[in-house]
Amino acid sequence: MANPTTITIRRPDDWHLHLRDGVMLAAVLPFTASQFSRAVIMPNLVPPVRRAAEACAYRSRILAALPHGLNFHPLMTCYLTDETDPDDLIEGQRTGAFFAAKLYPANATTNSQFGVTDLERLNRVLEAMEFAGMPLLVHGEVTDPAVDIFDREAVFIERVLGPIRRRFPALRITLEHVTTADGVAFVEEAGERTGGSVTPHHLTFSRNAMFQGGLRPHFYCLPVAKRERHRQALRAAVTSGHPRFFLGTDSAPHLRSAKESACGCAGLFCAPTALAAYAQVFAEEGALDKFEAFAAENGARFYGLPLNADRITLTAEETDVPEDVPVQGLGTLHPFLGGTRIGWRVDGRPVPARSDAKSG
Ligand code: DOR
Ligand code: ZN
Repeated sequence: MANPTTITIRRPDDWHLHLRDGVMLAAVLPFTASQFSRAVIMPNLVPPVRRAAEACAYRSRILAALPHGLNFHPLMTCYLTDETDPDDLIEGQRTGAFFAAKLYPANATTNSQFGVTDLERLNRVLEAMEFAGMPLLVHGEVTDPAVDIFDREAVFIERVLGPIRRRFPALRITLEHVTTADGVAFVEEAGERTGGSVTPHHLTFSRNAMFQGGLRPHFYCLPVAKRERHRQALRAAVTSGHPRFFLGTDSAPHLRSAKESACGCAGLFCAPTALAAYAQVFAEEGALDKFEAFAAENGARFYGLPLNADRITLTAEETDVPEDVPVQGLGTLHPFLGGTRIGWRVDGRPVPARSDAKSG
């Protein structure tokens, strides 16, 4: 069957998003809020979001930066540390301040220096989360410098995630931004309480993109893109219709100046193009019939949340992606696929950022 030129699906959710704060938040939020209904907001600010009161304050700042007329629901997360108190955490979930908790192994990625250094110390926290039904979202990479960066996800699964999975069988666990065939196999085999979010960029390019004709910092993120066979495994997983893989953009904006540097930051700002890029992947794989479930149903079902009722339309039409998105007073962001043409367009009017955002 030929691909249709227009598809209408339930409004999707983004199960993994970095919004930052201040003027950056104001600049990036409209791209997500105009396309997605809900998003899981990652807590790796400096200082990180560790307490319920901090999550409530951050949520208020997000809502204050939301352009008028957009209906968007941030789902807040707690940044786990060696000091996280299980009672505080669960109380934060009970009051609705926290949707989930995020495990960053210390020094695995951007702003993870406050993360968990000793996983043994997390046992009481994980036990409490398992009992309370609070999801654990995992950055799945070991930080052992002896482990090659391209092997860090696979080794994490073997050394850390597998044992956590076995020790807390009822805990809902998401392996965030799956990048390897090993991660795909883990999610598939670990049973109904294990899910995996998948980014548009890990579906679109392999590690070669970082070195194509020179060093290309705009393709650098963590976990780093892997070999082509891993990308193919990810594409097969999401287009198979498997219910425990779902959309999580991991849109992680860094200023162009911070990316194009002798020590460039990890992260792609993919919020503007993510949905179109996912549609492109599903179209290329002849699996547009599986797109809605991946984008708008699997995640909500996995987390036990209602499905969104409103709809969004995508049209198969070559669309120019701008090179730069301005951030008031700070510089610009280079969006994923910026400066190229993309095969899909998300219908709807562009929504301008609010100009009254505070810096900081
Ligand atoms: O590339 C990444 N960027 N990976 C992460 O895990 C964090 C993110 C960020 O916050 O910039
Ligand atoms: Zn992330």
